[in-house]
Amino acid sequence: MSGLFITVEGLEGVGKSTNLEFVKNWLVNKGLNVETTREPGGTNLAEDIRELLLTKREENVSETCELLMMFAARAQHIAQKINPWLEQGKCVLSDRFTDATYAYQGGGRQMDTSIINQLEDIVQNGLQPDFTLLLDAPAHIGLKRIQSRGFTDRIEQEKVEFFDRAREGYLARAKADPKRMFVIDASQPLEDVQTQIEATLTAFFKTREKT
Ligand code: TMP
Repeated sequence: MSGLFITVEGLEGVGKSTNLEFVKNWLVNKGLNVETTREPGGTNLAEDIRELLLTKREENVSETCELLMMFAARAQHIAQKINPWLEQGKCVLSDRFTDATYAYQGGGRQMDTSIINQLEDIVQNGLQPDFTLLLDAPAHIGLKRIQSRGFTDRIEQEKVEFFDRAREGYLARAKADPKRMFVIDASQPLEDVQTQIEATLTAFFKTREKT
């Protein structure tokens, strides 16, 4: 596949939306044909699954059900959007992908990561992001921001300890794959965060253009 697959990850409230827009503009200015998308979601069916996943309900949602729905949405997203875009040589910029599953279901919910590995193999058939930005900040900072917004979804209502574990899960992923996943200190003022993002993108493209 000739396209480029870029993902942006991070806990809630770390400024993901604002910085995704910044990354998108940077890539467009570089002359890339950019398609933006998100997970869970990205197609009509996958957005329906997202709704099912994030709706608060009285019934307890089993961890396995949650995990399978994440991957069900991902399978549809890959088949309908991500793979076709990459085949057309586009730059796909996704708000979250499988690192989020390792962080939230693996870290947050403490699920066995070998199960996530197996689903990843089945659903992705080798597809991996080329480049990932992890917007990192202590969980309590982001949670304060989303709570002040006055509405939380089913996952956002988890306790801070859940998000502490998700953060550790993300950082472990970055440590294990430092050539792909870059940690940005998102607890800094926005201008500094974007300076870090720009430097990281520039360095990534410099390396890529050399090879
Ligand atoms: P969002 O708030 O970035 O739109 O993401 C929706 C929620 O879904 C967020 O709480 C993170 C969670 N999530 C997982 O738990 N596992 C996953 O694999 C993905 C993609 C998201």
